[in-house]
Amino acid sequence: MSTIFEVQATDPLMSEVYALRRRVFVVEQGVPEELEVDDDDRRAIHLAALSDGLVIGTLRILLHDRAAKIGRMAVSASSRKRGVGRELMEFAAATASRRGADEIVLGAQVTARGFYERLGYSAEGSAFDDAGIPHVMMRRKLQR
Ligand SMILES: CC(C)(COP(=O)(O)OP(=O)(O)OC[C@H]1O[C@@H](n2cnc3c(N)ncnc32)[C@H](O)[C@@H]1OP(=O)(O)O)[C@@H](O)C(=O)NCCC(=O)NCCS
Repeated sequence: MSTIFEVQATDPLMSEVYALRRRVFVVEQGVPEELEVDDDDRRAIHLAALSDGLVIGTLRILLHDRAAKIGRMAVSASSRKRGVGRELMEFAAATASRRGADEIVLGAQVTARGFYERLGYSAEGSAFDDAGIPHVMMRRKLQR
């Protein structure tokens, strides 16, 4: 089991969050290193899933008025398919709702579309490229 909590952008734990993102997006998926961390990281709400003191999952939430955008969803390769991604997404939806959002949007990697569909997200529009990876926009309304 993992524990999920918010990590402030200035928290020392952020270096572990960035290390996980680097392993997943840069090393595993080939995203250019210079695109992986961006200015939005400074104002995002970051979530970390911790197990045995290690960060095994993360995502970030960007609030834009009534819409929250989730991004940088990553679970370490050895911890996948055990519900960590789902737990992070549910925690994120509750966090966004509490902060006044009434919907969540995200750019899903096409290979992860089924993961988000299981969580109530619907795809819209056609696929687009982001950092060399095909994505599709997805949306879910939040109940308040
Ligand atoms: C996509 C990712 C975050 C899923 O995390 P996870 O912890 O393995 O997901 P969970 O175990 O919580 O899965 C929840 C459900 O989604 C399903 N699922 C997981 N990954 C899936 C995928 N890629 N496609 C379809 N369904 C998927 C699971 O089987 C599970 O189904 P169930 O409820 O019927 O049992 C993880 O595989 C990952 O980090 N991948 C690499 C980075 C990435 O692609 N991030 C997404 C960027 S948009």
